[in-house]
Amino acid sequence: MDQTRTPYFQALLDYVDSGVLPFHTPGHIQGRGMDLAFREFVGDNICAIDLTPMPGIDDLLQPTESIKEAQQLAAAAWGADRSFFLINGSTSGNQCMMMTAVNPGEKIAVPRNSHKSMLGGLIMSGAQPVYMAPEVDEELRMDHCVTPETVARTLEEHPDLAAVYLVSPTYYGVAADLATIEAIVHGAGKLLLIDEAWGPHFHFHPALPLSATAAGADLCINSTHKMLSAFSQCAMLHQKGDRVRLDRLASVLKMFLSTSPNLPMVASLDVARKQMATEGEALLSRTIALAQETRARINAIGGLYCFGEELRGRNGVFALDPTKITVTVTGLGYTGYEASEILRRRHNIQVELADLFNVVALFTIGTTSDAAERLVNAFTEMARDDRALDMFAPSGILERRLRRGNFRLPKMPPVRMLPREAFLAPTEFVKFRESVGRICAETLTPYPPGIPVIAPGEEITRELVDYLRLELKAGVRIQGPYDDELRSIRVVKE
Ligand SMILES: Cc1ncc(COP(=O)(O)O)c(C=O)c1O
Repeated sequence: MDQTRTPYFQALLDYVDSGVLPFHTPGHIQGRGMDLAFREFVGDNICAIDLTPMPGIDDLLQPTESIKEAQQLAAAAWGADRSFFLINGSTSGNQCMMMTAVNPGEKIAVPRNSHKSMLGGLIMSGAQPVYMAPEVDEELRMDHCVTPETVARTLEEHPDLAAVYLVSPTYYGVAADLATIEAIVHGAGKLLLIDEAWGPHFHFHPALPLSATAAGADLCINSTHKMLSAFSQCAMLHQKGDRVRLDRLASVLKMFLSTSPNLPMVASLDVARKQMATEGEALLSRTIALAQETRARINAIGGLYCFGEELRGRNGVFALDPTKITVTVTGLGYTGYEASEILRRRHNIQVELADLFNVVALFTIGTTSDAAERLVNAFTEMARDDRALDMFAPSGILERRLRRGNFRLPKMPPVRMLPREAFLAPTEFVKFRESVGRICAETLTPYPPGIPVIAPGEEITRELVDYLRLELKAGVRIQGPYDDELRSIRVVKE
């Protein structure tokens, strides 16, 4: 296939060139009716291609023309049998995969450190999760991937599983042994679904971990907007093989997609695919080299640690994405949140993620060597100045523990109900501090990285309450509870 083509982007350009008089949505009519200040800022061209499905422009829900070709080109580029453009991120991708693969009450094996959108998929599908413990790295204090041994054991213990769902890579760029896991899962005759939101670039460079499509996943998702150049919210769902019911997948996609997709977003997926297929390896070679050089320079700064290839072979670490720069800052006496604030306030640098111990800087095909230089300089200055900002002055035992990094991630709480049952059950609010022993009806997710510490149907434990109060004290946003400040929590009525 001719990967230099961008059939969908071209269809939009052809419409603009044809000078058609529009009497259709969107109501701004190619920018004419738009607020001037906004239009001047975003530019006329983006307004001109913000159109609606019509003959010649194709329909994302029922593609027969240029979107069909654009999706076929994407499938060829990623080595899938079929690819589908998503406009609500990998969030909708996770929901679509679950709704396609599992029915109410059916069992699906899922890693505990999945993104919260996986839980949305569980609630919608009514499936029963069988949680697989990810490997916990006590030294780095982070979860890695699940191992082939864990997958094999889970399949042995639950021969009635319908599917196995994996997250690879993690937010920190650690990838699982997908080839071995694929052999185990398909050997047992089960479906393999992979959340590869953070790995849309893997397929295009030999130095990157094996991609989910190359490993033979039945369904997988990529956040094309995260590590590649598509607009925010743009993602793809790839399908391979003959295990998935295609009619079911097609109707699920129709249910999750807007009937009025944003067409510049769809076109950006078409163009991001062309970019990767035609020059991806060269662009990624530059990015990988810049990231590796930056990693080495950060590791030369006293008090900082940026993990890399030396981690390979640890439990749950089969391969690494070098473009994720995870910097452990606790050696400087800062939490990751503090370091992130310092980078922003003193150096005007915004990182992708901060947690209690680390900050994560993304290196993508858009990262320049000047930007890398500024990042290294900022860390150098941070290491020289061991004075914590006033606003972070330690007070109380929690903060002191936090500063010493002296606490553990909470264990998974006992599961008492299906996520869907708890979500739909009659509920009441109780004080968070007094909620130990109750069944949670909400999802509590420290953000970032967006991994739930408790899900609907799980028992609230003392350890969890203590951990979440610690996170709150450290200034972490907890997404999910109705009460933003988490003074109260919604639990299943007894
Ligand atoms: C592992 C994982 N899956 C899914 C998502 C959701 O992706 P999106 O933001 O594209 O909806 C995220 C977001 O951070 C994620 O980290």
